[in-house]
Amino acid sequence: MSEHEQMAHEASARIAGAADLNALEAMRVEYLGKQGSISGLLKTLGKMSPDERQEKAPAIQSLRQTVADALTARKDELEAAELEARLATETLDLTLPAPAAPKGSVHPVSQVMDELAEIFADLGFAVATGPEIEDDWYNFTALNMPESHPARAMHDTFYFPDTAPKGGKMLLRTHTSPVQVRTMMAEGAPLRIIAPGRVYRSDSDATHTPMFHQIEGLVIDKGIHLGHLKWTLETFLKAFFETEDIVLRLRPSYFPFTEPSVEVDVGFAIENGKRILGGSGDEPGHGWMELLGSGMVNRRVIEFAGLDPDEWQGFAFGVGVDRLAMLKYGMDDLRAFFDGDTRWLSHYGFSPFDQPTLSAGVGAKA
Ligand code: DAH
Repeated sequence: MSEHEQMAHEASARIAGAADLNALEAMRVEYLGKQGSISGLLKTLGKMSPDERQEKAPAIQSLRQTVADALTARKDELEAAELEARLATETLDLTLPAPAAPKGSVHPVSQVMDELAEIFADLGFAVATGPEIEDDWYNFTALNMPESHPARAMHDTFYFPDTAPKGGKMLLRTHTSPVQVRTMMAEGAPLRIIAPGRVYRSDSDATHTPMFHQIEGLVIDKGIHLGHLKWTLETFLKAFFETEDIVLRLRPSYFPFTEPSVEVDVGFAIENGKRILGGSGDEPGHGWMELLGSGMVNRRVIEFAGLDPDEWQGFAFGVGVDRLAMLKYGMDDLRAFFDGDTRWLSHYGFSPFDQPTLSAGVGAKA
């Protein structure tokens, strides 16, 4: 056995017998540390002639490797033993109650959107969607608001610098109405859809946030008239507010995409300083609250969407979902909806496991 093999043999035996991690570390320093004996041997290589180095280097390298391997192997053994020992002494008290897992809740906006989808499903409406980053053409032009139309100014639009494929700039949709056009183009007629979703306007105070939610309704068929619109809105609002006592007032209005256009008000009473929906707004102590915009789809919009307005007519409406949630569940500051404050969410949120089902899906009550 060469001198170096002898050293490797002895060192391996000592290392294998190291009693604990501290003893092992001391041995590592002794052999491989800066001042270690093997490090010393490695340093002598530098002073040798090339021939001598070629002769001696392999044996010294092999010694270093053997010792390093032995150190690693013993370290693994000692650590495993330490873990075993800990597991043997520590116990786990399985009778301790687990800390309560924080439970999320359904945001009132999601809850209301689900309720609306449920109500309109009963009336035969499918849910349609469209992009939030929208083309000027769908958001305005095809809704009968050409480039210079004054109604555009009322939308406080967020524009992107990018040019839109169909002209103008790309933008964040300011309403869900472009989904009307997209769905008519994609699916033709007849059609019965709602389109819930996020919309954006550069506006912020207690009742306006730059992002809010709308739900659009659209019916396209033959022989559709205002009576269908009024019945649909009444039926939906009674189901949503879970009361038969809903009185609507249709007021002439103007939207570029409907003709005629009506604004729909709902009657309320004041109880303990709070507005409670119900009854005619004309009764003493009552009032009318503006709730939504609607009307018969302008024939220009039907044409833009590629349908023949002499054959197809329809009605449309748009409602603020946040507003509906505030009215039904009694919140008064819209900004709190989007602050993400978990105290607000756990107060106003809904349990995903314990959904308060609508007592009156459409027709379920009677
Ligand atoms: N898009 C309108 C807005 O955001 C709301 C609206 C009014 C939608 C009348 C409609 C409608 O579909 O017929 O102000």
